[in-house]
Amino acid sequence: MKPSGRLRLGVNIDHVATVRNARGTAYPDPLRAALLAEAAGADGITAHLREDRRHIRDEDIAALAAGLSVPLNFECAATVEMQAIGLRHRPHAMCLVPEKREERTTEGGLDVAADEARLRDFITPLREAGIRVSMFIGHDPKQIEASARIGAAVVELHTGYYCDLHHEGRYAERDAELDGLRRGAKLAYSLGLEVHAGHGLTYETVGPIAAMPEMMELNIGHFLIAEAIFLGLGPAIEEMRRRMDEARRA
Ligand code: PXP
Repeated sequence: MKPSGRLRLGVNIDHVATVRNARGTAYPDPLRAALLAEAAGADGITAHLREDRRHIRDEDIAALAAGLSVPLNFECAATVEMQAIGLRHRPHAMCLVPEKREERTTEGGLDVAADEARLRDFITPLREAGIRVSMFIGHDPKQIEASARIGAAVVELHTGYYCDLHHEGRYAERDAELDGLRRGAKLAYSLGLEVHAGHGLTYETVGPIAAMPEMMELNIGHFLIAEAIFLGLGPAIEEMRRRMDEARRA
């Protein structure tokens, strides 16, 4: 596994379902958005089936698994229910995230180090089914090392804190967080893990993350769906792609 020149862009379409569910209609259809994202250059589609089904629903996962040409990254909590759904649909990848009912979005990374034995057992059947398992974690070396030990193929580094600090204008703290993410990416790569990142990324914050040479994939959702209101989904994705490529070249 060598970091490639072209960084993959995974488009998270959860919030297309959020808009649909707000009115209980059948539209907008997440699969239609995913196919449009594919046409605009998305290298993969991510969808998070939350325990409370607040946005993506079971039938969306079935439709995406059957209808996409690009890889599906199925994001979920490490529960028995989600393991069974993953094994039924056999997506290209499963990204395991912590989940709390009361949170607005995924607030922190998974504590792999504290739950190592259970998570090793949890991912074994998924790995055996050929699913690439990714752990969504902070850049703490303890979490990265534990992810490598349990046999995960991928770590997705949580960029939410970095993005919040940027948008709050707390630049010194943002830069320290960015350094932590850079060190985390290097450590993960040195341990043979594929390195992804995501959460909260925008046109303003994507550059330094995309520029990390170890980075292979970014997963971006909320900002792209928000920007689609103004630009349309295709152009919003194309602009993100352009900024990623620009940062990669620099
Ligand atoms: N990666 C993971 C693991 C996530 O939980 C999320 C949010 O669902 C994202 C990426 C995308 O984050 P955002 O919607 O803020 O771009």
